[in-house]
Amino acid sequence: MCGIVGYIGKNNAIPVVIQGLQRLEYRGYDSCGIAMMDSEKMILEKVTGKVEELQGLLARQKTNSSVAIGHTRWATHGPPTFSNAHPHTSQDGKVALVHNGIIENYKVLRDGLINDGYEFSSETDTEVIAALVSQAYHGNLEHAVREALSHVVGAYGLAVIHTDEPEKIVCTRKGAPLIMAVGEDEFFVASDVAAILSYSKDVIYLDNEEIGILTPDGVTTYSGSDEPIDKKIHKITFNLEEIEKGGYEHFMLKEIFSQPQTIYDAMRGRLLPETGDAFLGGIDHMIGSILHADQRYFTACGTSWHAALIGEMMFEQFARIPCEVEYASEFRYREPLVDAKSIVFAISQSGETADTLAAIQEAKTREATVLGICNVVGSSIARETEAGVYIHAGPEIGVASTKAFTSQVTVLSLLTLKLARLMGMSKTDGLEISQAMQKLPENVEWVLKQADQIAEIAKLYADAANFLYLGRGVNFPVALEGALKLKEISYIHAEGYPAAEMKHGPIALIDKSMPIVAIAPQDKTYDKIISNIEEVKARHGRVIALATEGDTRIKDIADHVLYVPPALSFTAPILNVIPLQLLSYYVAVERGCDVDQPRNLAKSVTVE
Ligand code: M6R
Repeated sequence: MCGIVGYIGKNNAIPVVIQGLQRLEYRGYDSCGIAMMDSEKMILEKVTGKVEELQGLLARQKTNSSVAIGHTRWATHGPPTFSNAHPHTSQDGKVALVHNGIIENYKVLRDGLINDGYEFSSETDTEVIAALVSQAYHGNLEHAVREALSHVVGAYGLAVIHTDEPEKIVCTRKGAPLIMAVGEDEFFVASDVAAILSYSKDVIYLDNEEIGILTPDGVTTYSGSDEPIDKKIHKITFNLEEIEKGGYEHFMLKEIFSQPQTIYDAMRGRLLPETGDAFLGGIDHMIGSILHADQRYFTACGTSWHAALIGEMMFEQFARIPCEVEYASEFRYREPLVDAKSIVFAISQSGETADTLAAIQEAKTREATVLGICNVVGSSIARETEAGVYIHAGPEIGVASTKAFTSQVTVLSLLTLKLARLMGMSKTDGLEISQAMQKLPENVEWVLKQADQIAEIAKLYADAANFLYLGRGVNFPVALEGALKLKEISYIHAEGYPAAEMKHGPIALIDKSMPIVAIAPQDKTYDKIISNIEEVKARHGRVIALATEGDTRIKDIADHVLYVPPALSFTAPILNVIPLQLLSYYVAVERGCDVDQPRNLAKSVTVE
């Protein structure tokens, strides 16, 4: 949830670390700081607030250093204050470190250290590690880090420096992401590739408990059992433009508008419109196991969980195979009926979500086969799963997930098509579906053209305190997703409901101040949804309807109508979610909210 960047090399470390922190700010942004070596002296600077302030502070000081570690924080232990901001130092000021993750036994460790006379200056769990490293230090930082961590229970990504070895950064991880990168006479450590992409595309992924050592001469890696290991250098394939705003006011808007391309990328080489079929190379060898498994689960969190709900409905409706969806955070605590004959799909944009990783571990412990549907190449989930499919959405920077959702649903649609054909779906039906999918990018473009109209509607409803989103069938998860988007970035309370459930409770909330977003495509439940809209209007609720292009009847009932092209239930969720993404975006802008970095949230939730 926080961001880590470290640099050692021939250039001034400070601008590199500052730029890296700026690129990581979407991961956590309540405070930040940097520790750097000036000969054998440690310099520490921290601010509450954004990296820009830290940048200003450092610019005034004109400091120069060839070794530095920096951090942007999402508070877990203790509020976002100066003293709780990272880096944290040992009492003697010799050790400085930055940490992502949570140390679960920090209280016991802290109490023990206090009993021994140690004085802490923050409320964080991280400071305990600085103390332990300091105590364990006898001239070799990597040994001290290893020894310190042997007392620690929890998750960490760490970068550590010590004044006695000023030309060294030691880094390690367990359950939180960390990479090293290699440049020309300069070396980097970061919690996310985005931080260092302008300097290097040659990346080393650290595995759990491995230790990396960066010096001006290069990087070396040791296994969890302290053996030197040769790590593969991976070439990053995405470009800098993909992590920049490219003229858009916000990353979220850029990502919403990139969906015609990202959906195409998710399908490229996988959709077979000539035969009405699909091919997913990463899991092709597992298709038989998926079909014949005793149980199939999707596990995920947040928006990815909404995609999973759509996947479940499609699996059951088209492939006629049962499947369950479970919140990853609940999965391991509810004794799931998972065994060696089960297939568990973990769905995640970041591939680093701690709850999803924990669910994967649980499924593996129960000997299930775990497959991933993931965006970030080389992420922990991609590596922890037996096989999987990348959604190829490219880096998603806006905290509110948009393009990853539509790409996840695209991949789930392809998988459903593949399974459905094997389960007896006719070629004619397969052709109809695959041709509709092929037209998705064009149809998404068409929907995006209503952005200005949606922006106008947003102005009318930006002051609302509550919103209700209604949808049926595959559009119920879309309603949930629309409500989540609005909550996340505009802080308006919003709920998604299956439309017919409205009369079983939420109808009590409806009055003239309640906007209702009704997803009302011309499918088999159209007349029922129209009745729901009538019920809302009878109680003076205001309705924004999402209807099928050409539907004029709905215009007489709803206050506003947004249109999507006619769609099959295979493609409807993707088309219908786009106006909802735009609506939440424009409402948030209208309310003056920080769209890309909404309060209290972070892009990837790497703590349980
Ligand atoms: O990276 P993941 O897909 O595993 O993340 C899961 C959720 O944390 C994420 O979808 C979250 O709900 C987003 N902020 C949604 O916009």
